[in-house]
Amino acid sequence: MDKRIRIAIYASGGGSNAGIIMERFKQHKIAQVALVVSDQPGAGVLALAKQFGVESLVASKSLLADGPEMLDLMRSKEIDFIVLAGYLRKIPNEVVQVFSGRIVNIHPSLLPKFGGKGMYGMRVHTAVVAAQEKESGMTIHFVNENYDEGAIIMQVRCSVDPSETAESLQKKVLQLEHLHYASVVEDVCLKTVTGNVD
Ligand code: GRF
Repeated sequence: MDKRIRIAIYASGGGSNAGIIMERFKQHKIAQVALVVSDQPGAGVLALAKQFGVESLVASKSLLADGPEMLDLMRSKEIDFIVLAGYLRKIPNEVVQVFSGRIVNIHPSLLPKFGGKGMYGMRVHTAVVAAQEKESGMTIHFVNENYDEGAIIMQVRCSVDPSETAESLQKKVLQLEHLHYASVVEDVCLKTVTGNVD
């Protein structure tokens, strides 16, 4: 029987980070990406999951807002660790509590700046450029009950040049995400879950 740690990735969009994480765990001895969950039927991440042979499902808004139902789903798939990668919904408090220390998220700014409800995707980079920030970057953090407020695991910075546009900044920050997220997921997941696995 496959005893590897089971990771679920939640994603709403293209899933470039999710793809890199699936690649990282493809032949991994200790952990595997066992499930991709999306709220968007047309999300690119679903095609990526198929490519990697990872089970995926599109869950309804009502299921995704319902803590006990989401916990049932995670239990039925025997999920040990949750990774949010461009997932736009709030994780219900019951799930946050049960998975405390076992849910991570990535955000494309230096939190606590430019985070919170409604701050996602290009909106973040547009706000950073409009505020004439000298630097931006990405934040990987644990998920708690509030949007973008859990304990920070890693931040990596980049400059915001005088000629920067929201589009060019998005590219820069996404490169940083691609460089770091999968290895941080691996580190945190192995550290936090190993004690819980028979
Ligand atoms: C990333 O910028 C991430 O920080 C944010 O959503 C975006 C997802 O991009 N949470 P992708 O779907 O992984 O390409």
